[in-house]
Amino acid sequence: MLPKVDPTITKSWANLSELASRHKGNIKDLFTEESDRVAKYTHQMGDFVFDFSKNDVSNEVFNNLIGLANECNVQRGIEAQYSGEFINETENRSVLHTSLRDCSQANPHLKEVRNELEKIKAFSQKLHSGKWLGYTGKQITDIVNIGIGGSDLGPKMITHALQNSWKKIKPHFISNIDAQQLNEELDGLNPESTLFIIASKTFTTQETMTNADSAKNWFLNQSGKEEAEIAKHFVAVSTNKEAVSNFGIDLKNMFVFWDWVGGRYSLWSAIGLSIAGTVGYEKFEELLKGAHEMDNHFKEAPMEKNIPVIAALIGIWYNNFLNYSSLAILPYDHRLRFLPAYLQQADMESNGKYVNRNGSKVNYETGPILWGEPGTNGQHAFYQLIHQGTKIIPTEFIAFAKSEHQQEDHHEKLLANFFAQPKALLMGKSQEQVKEEMGDNIIDSLVPFRVFEGNRPSTSILIKELTPYNVGKLIAYYEHKIFVQGLIWNIFSYDQWGVELGKQLAKPILKEIKEQKVGDHDESTKSIIAYYFKMRN
Ligand code: F6P
Repeated sequence: MLPKVDPTITKSWANLSELASRHKGNIKDLFTEESDRVAKYTHQMGDFVFDFSKNDVSNEVFNNLIGLANECNVQRGIEAQYSGEFINETENRSVLHTSLRDCSQANPHLKEVRNELEKIKAFSQKLHSGKWLGYTGKQITDIVNIGIGGSDLGPKMITHALQNSWKKIKPHFISNIDAQQLNEELDGLNPESTLFIIASKTFTTQETMTNADSAKNWFLNQSGKEEAEIAKHFVAVSTNKEAVSNFGIDLKNMFVFWDWVGGRYSLWSAIGLSIAGTVGYEKFEELLKGAHEMDNHFKEAPMEKNIPVIAALIGIWYNNFLNYSSLAILPYDHRLRFLPAYLQQADMESNGKYVNRNGSKVNYETGPILWGEPGTNGQHAFYQLIHQGTKIIPTEFIAFAKSEHQQEDHHEKLLANFFAQPKALLMGKSQEQVKEEMGDNIIDSLVPFRVFEGNRPSTSILIKELTPYNVGKLIAYYEHKIFVQGLIWNIFSYDQWGVELGKQLAKPILKEIKEQKVGDHDESTKSIIAYYFKMRN
């Protein structure tokens, strides 16, 4: 069992509170006060440079954050996770997504993991060699992943990150219960050469099962074939054999994973079938290897040099002591355009919790609000608030030194912005600078609008190039960071009870909708449902 320490009773928490009360918020000064700041807060790891130096963290704060990690037994928590302890206590499960990317003999799940990888390999080789044939003998040209949450966001984010490596098969993703998405994605697809992957850990999720049924009907209507042809066009990824079989998918077309893999941590399992099916198995394996490098670092590096731990601690300082409640993820790469959405689930479903590991309500903040957009689009949308708004938004900038395209001019401009924005956030622009810029044409009344206070925090992650290996490593960094924050907040990061109530309430309301009868609800809900009935008729 994980130690259940209330972080607020630790000595480090008290110290940090005291430091926050006399916090000046002058990051620029930290660079003059701490001459080794850049070296100390920059960590190179293979192709990665993590630059934490522009964060509002003094050495004194940093030391106390490390103290907090120690007092909250973070190292012990990491060991508990890796050793397969049932740290997901409310679901009575261990948490071993790291085993999915560990090919060493030390991995207790090596055999089943390797078995499934072999199946994924054979499947994707068959697809790419043109040996998997549809009902008319045509090769597969399109795969459609039907899943939601962790059964959608990870594969979708990774396949798009690796878009330049797509082989001949185009991936499509259907998640929303809104049939608009289903129809848009199916429009133009040929049933003869389309393969559906029904991805659902439970195989009971309303959205996925509704979309899967509709996709099956679409296939049968379009093809004019019988259920028997389903085997050539539908495969499943799940932990629920019975439901897969009841749906009509042959169990030999089923890929499995296990209850020790959480939904939002599952892209490394067979849930990544659409990744392997799109970019090939070798690249999928590279992704796993990259993540494994970060896993080893996370397990072995001392707290003060442990990159996910450092990122987690900085986030805790902002969230719990400086009251900065959100975090902007800003990938300067179009290929990572789905990263913010992916991380929203990873982070907010893991750490958006007000009940601690003892079952009591916490009296401190937990998970931050995570959001973001790729640069430079965000610069022309919400950066105004990040630079001059009343809220301080910690930011995380991500870019790759090399591009995969030949338009160097574009990439240099992209990178110039990636460097300029964190600098602008840090350095700002003083009144004197504004006046000097205005020169003889100075209009005093306009000066305040052009001043930037600066001292706004950011982390920069610069990576040599976007490879499957490096993407795997980046995502594992975030997974571990989230876990460390959950450890310190004394919450269970691997359950998600908060998504249940809405699902539960939707069921009887659906019945009412079908029967056109407003049921017994609060007055407001009754009223809006009644409006709906009037409008639809
Ligand atoms: O939103 C709740 C959730 O359980 C997520 O944790 C999960 O990723 C998603 O639903 C999909 O679940 P499943 O893979 O079982 O369909």
